Amino acid sequence: MSSSIPHAISGGMPGKDRFGKENFFVYPGRLAHNVGMNTRLFGKTGYSVGEIGLGCWQLGGTDWGGLSDMRARSILLAAVEAGVNFFDTADVYGKGRSEEIIGQFLKDHKRTCFVATKVGRADGIYPEGYSWDAVRLATERSLSRLGVPCIDLTQLHCVPLPVLKNGEIFHWLRQLKAEGKIRDFGASVETIEEALVCLEQPGLASLQVIYNVLRQKPEKELFPLAREKGVAIIVRLPLASGLLGGHLSAQTVFPEDDHRNFNRDGGSFNVGETFCGLPFEIGLHLVSHLQKMIPFGMTLPQFALRYILDNDAVSVVIPGSSRPAQASQNAAATLLDPLDTRLHEELHAFYEKEVLPFIRGPY
Ligand SMILES: NC(=O)c1ccc[n+]([C@@H]2O[C@H](COP(=O)([O-])OP(=O)(O)OC[C@H]3O[C@@H](n4cnc5c(N)ncnc54)[C@H](OP(=O)(O)O)[C@@H]3O)[C@@H](O)[C@H]2O)c1
Repeated sequence: MSSSIPHAISGGMPGKDRFGKENFFVYPGRLAHNVGMNTRLFGKTGYSVGEIGLGCWQLGGTDWGGLSDMRARSILLAAVEAGVNFFDTADVYGKGRSEEIIGQFLKDHKRTCFVATKVGRADGIYPEGYSWDAVRLATERSLSRLGVPCIDLTQLHCVPLPVLKNGEIFHWLRQLKAEGKIRDFGASVETIEEALVCLEQPGLASLQVIYNVLRQKPEKELFPLAREKGVAIIVRLPLASGLLGGHLSAQTVFPEDDHRNFNRDGGSFNVGETFCGLPFEIGLHLVSHLQKMIPFGMTLPQFALRYILDNDAVSVVIPGSSRPAQASQNAAATLLDPLDTRLHEELHAFYEKEVLPFIRGPY
């Protein structure tokens, strides 16, 4: 773990990239229209992006309780106004609704943001329908919903390990890239083993992993290797599905269509994607310990985001937001000072002893 903050600068001037798309990601240090957000290199793609992005699973409106179109657009607006220029979505979020809303928002507001989507879970492709035709069709559907000629980044969406090991799916991604349908490709994975398999693939631009103060495993082996290979790290579940928001309690009742209700114990998908695999009550208990370790003046979510940003293998962290104010507050974590080294050591010891034994699911 390094506590140095890279404030990555890619150099260069704004202009058009090789697909003729206006490139807002190459301004030295800061983004032209997003003053205040620190930027980091996105692996070796040549892009730099705001270090705090927006997770857009919530905008699908199906797995986090209902969310209106108006609320979704307000969240996107709050995020970009706070300096966010990186959105993470997937074709499966709300059966395409998240992609559609992002595409329409960027068109309406004449904004250029880096949009990372995912393929591999929608339209019956998971778990055994992986084929060139299916991946290509899903990509064309994403292009149409996003309203762009080329996708900035397509990530394999928690594709089963045997499919990753077989490797053919990466040829299809390289083919899509050669055809100009996607600019880069990466993979969102559940386990370190899957991440290491993906890292062997030539051309892999990014890996998306669960990483936060309650899920520290990627720091050890994966991050140094990804850094060495120039592969960008995208961090999901930075707030452990809201546990690290500090507003949840044993009395909190989640709606039936919120995964924190229906997937709390892994009833529908990998339990690790809900509260990072921690049983809810235990998670609350662990968070009450963390509260005592927060430096003066920081909120719990700021502390949680700062912990992640302190690792320079991370290119972008993508907190999801249920409300516009959360998107603004989360983006503002870019302004905070790093946590000190001793606190990091205490947090590592806390994780190993108190947290790790309770984590469930593939890891
Ligand atoms: N397999 C995959 O590839 C995969 C899986 C999961 C997620 N993702 C991506 O990663 C993104 C982030 O993960 P996530 O959304 O699951 O988890 P998360 O970012 O850890 O948690 C998001 C939730 O935390 C709460 N929150 C956010 N900001 C807050 C703040 N400032 N104060 C208090 N509470 C706050 C909100 O919930 P409340 O409703 O409680 O306010 C919000 O919906 C997703 O949106 C998605 O884009 C990818």
